[in-house]
Amino acid sequence: MANDKFLLVLGGASDIGRATARRFAEAGWRIAIAGRDAAALQREADDIATRTGVKVATPALDILESEAFEGFIAGLDGLPDAVVSVIGLLGEQAKAEVDVAHASLILRSNFEGPALLLGLFAERFRARGEGVLVGVSSVAGDRGRASNYVYGAAKAGLTAFLSGLRNRLAATGVRVVTVKPGFVRTKMTAGMKLPPLLTAEPEEVAEAIYRASVVRPRDVIYVKPIWLIVMTIIGLIPEPIFKRLKL
Ligand SMILES: NC(=O)c1ccc[n+]([C@@H]2O[C@H](COP(=O)([O-])OP(=O)(O)OC[C@H]3O[C@@H](n4cnc5c(N)ncnc54)[C@H](OP(=O)(O)O)[C@@H]3O)[C@@H](O)[C@H]2O)c1
Repeated sequence: MANDKFLLVLGGASDIGRATARRFAEAGWRIAIAGRDAAALQREADDIATRTGVKVATPALDILESEAFEGFIAGLDGLPDAVVSVIGLLGEQAKAEVDVAHASLILRSNFEGPALLLGLFAERFRARGEGVLVGVSSVAGDRGRASNYVYGAAKAGLTAFLSGLRNRLAATGVRVVTVKPGFVRTKMTAGMKLPPLLTAEPEEVAEAIYRASVVRPRDVIYVKPIWLIVMTIIGLIPEPIFKRLKL
């Protein structure tokens, strides 16, 4: 059944983005899925519209082009009630250690771009007096590890940015949700051997986002709660020991 709510997904062609758009569409929300791949977005929009009957828009967005953000927002069919950013880039840690352009791309795709755009929506939500902002960060941002610290540092930046926004807007009707998935079976992790107990499906992430945004408001969620235990233990390891571990 259609309602008058409007969801914008930044990174709408990703596996988590598509699952999230579908979950909200099933609840009757009007949807916009934004991204770079117009053909993939249109395929997904047609699929969602056929399944649920809701209206789905596909605005173009490159998260590296911050000068276009004001125009992107102005071009939307109204100010969304909720914005979910799932944009991210794992990149290659080894390449990022020697190639400054690659390191910069990882930092900008995971941190600078999503933070700047969510920040612009935060201002508009604050002026309106309500709205939900959701940032998909990662457990990788909880502690830097040799195997992926450029990506992890970018996610740590996004986590801190969302925490600050939440703190600043706590007395308003604007809510900010930080989502920390562990492993998720998506295009990003294709080919990796993922431990089943620690791995979520995109639909589980989407359900967690929907619940934390709409059903039972939450500030920070670990999609699989076991990750909170894992990351708490990792966080408690003293640095002189941690620096010698291969994680
Ligand atoms: N999979 C995991 O294990 C896992 C774990 C923790 C957190 N996460 C986070 O979950 C989010 C979704 O990831 P996923 O696993 O669903 O992987 P994914 O399918 O690779 O999603 C990444 C999305 O970011 C988009 N993107 C990258 N650079 C962009 C740019 N410059 N402008 C616009 N869009 C851009 C990609 O668009 P294109 O399709 O155009 O490339 C894609 O839609 C990411 O933030 C990721 O860091 C994933």
